[in-house]
Amino acid sequence: MGITIAVPKETASGERRVAIVPSVIKLLDKLGVEVRMQKGAGVAAGFPDDLYEGVSWADSAAQLYKDADIVLRVQPPSADEAGKLPEGSLLLGHMAPHEGDSRITNLNKRKVTSFALELVPRITRAQSIDALSSQANIAGYKCALLAAHLSPKLFPMLTTAAGTVRPARVVVVGAGVAGLQAIATAKRLGAIVEAYDVRSATKEQVESLGGKFIDTGVSADGEGGYARELTDEEKAQQAEVLAQHIAQADGVITTAAIPGRPAPKIIDKATVERMKPGAVIVDMAAETGGNCALTEAGKEVTHNGVTIAGPKNIPSMAATHASEMYARNLCNLLALLVKEGEIQLDWDDQVVADSCLTHDGETRYAPAKERMEGDK
Ligand code: NAI
Repeated sequence: MGITIAVPKETASGERRVAIVPSVIKLLDKLGVEVRMQKGAGVAAGFPDDLYEGVSWADSAAQLYKDADIVLRVQPPSADEAGKLPEGSLLLGHMAPHEGDSRITNLNKRKVTSFALELVPRITRAQSIDALSSQANIAGYKCALLAAHLSPKLFPMLTTAAGTVRPARVVVVGAGVAGLQAIATAKRLGAIVEAYDVRSATKEQVESLGGKFIDTGVSADGEGGYARELTDEEKAQQAEVLAQHIAQADGVITTAAIPGRPAPKIIDKATVERMKPGAVIVDMAAETGGNCALTEAGKEVTHNGVTIAGPKNIPSMAATHASEMYARNLCNLLALLVKEGEIQLDWDDQVVADSCLTHDGETRYAPAKERMEGDK
């Protein structure tokens, strides 16, 4: 019997993406696997069932999972859904490994081998699997558009018979994957862009996109290309220099994050009160607590004439392309796990070993294991 891959319809509220798009079915064929999908799984992403060739269809999740070997998802399953996955199956997708202990417990109960895309190591060889990057790229682009959309000003300079419009000033905080895409997008829209990140390596990247780097005199280069947490003094210095730039901005896009931790608070209420009326903050970190103290996840709030947007699940707003990139990431991960039509888990492969959350009833990801043992 060949390997059957099951792709459910996403159940998380507001999720429009799908784990597999029609264009990757050929790649899956090459891996020697069969694809079964839940009816309507791709519709919200712009992929109705009839676009998928050579796929079989299930009416319900229960029917979908029957005898399935591998389950591909976008969002982590709920604890309840995890408890209903096929026993001993492989699960690939976002797993939110820094939380969700009851989900992890249920994955272990079902002896599910789960691979978390959040845990894929950021090494060159794994770039084609890096869903954090593919989705952050989309989020950065959308946040820049959202800032332009919410602003009562235009972003580009326009010279018209009715007068000249000056270009908007945009500040991007956090110049990782999303921030760099936000800089590039705001630049393409014609804004003057300044950006800041605690990692000094980003200065060159910001400048290569035509942005001006804000130098606060604080560097927080951490391990593995990520940022470390700053001391209180460093935070104060960073905040004051940044506040001066933010006060002049028409649009601020914040993307600062530290993996597995709440988002760093970078813009306090007093800084918002120094901003110009009509200015806009788009806080990409809203779901992990927000980079701005006034952000409310999933809402747009106004304070002193400043609009603060805290959009949730931004990649889902561009569900077609987000799904296409995500599906490619998944297929590239699958290619490491399925050889000649069989599941072969090579634990000596760093990508396989590092990205595994649970296997054979055990939590493999050390921080989750320690957290759960600590709770006992
Ligand atoms: P992220 O989403 O975890 O964080 C976003 C940005 O926020 C980071 O650039 C971080 O330095 C910044 N940040 C954190 N605290 C901050 C603060 N207090 N103030 C201002 N900025 C703050 O990071 P992301 O975008 O997922 O990746 C970060 C970096 O990881 C990349 O830019 C790259 O250098 C590296 N990376 C390497 C890859 C590879 O394959 N070699 C692939 C992807 C990322």
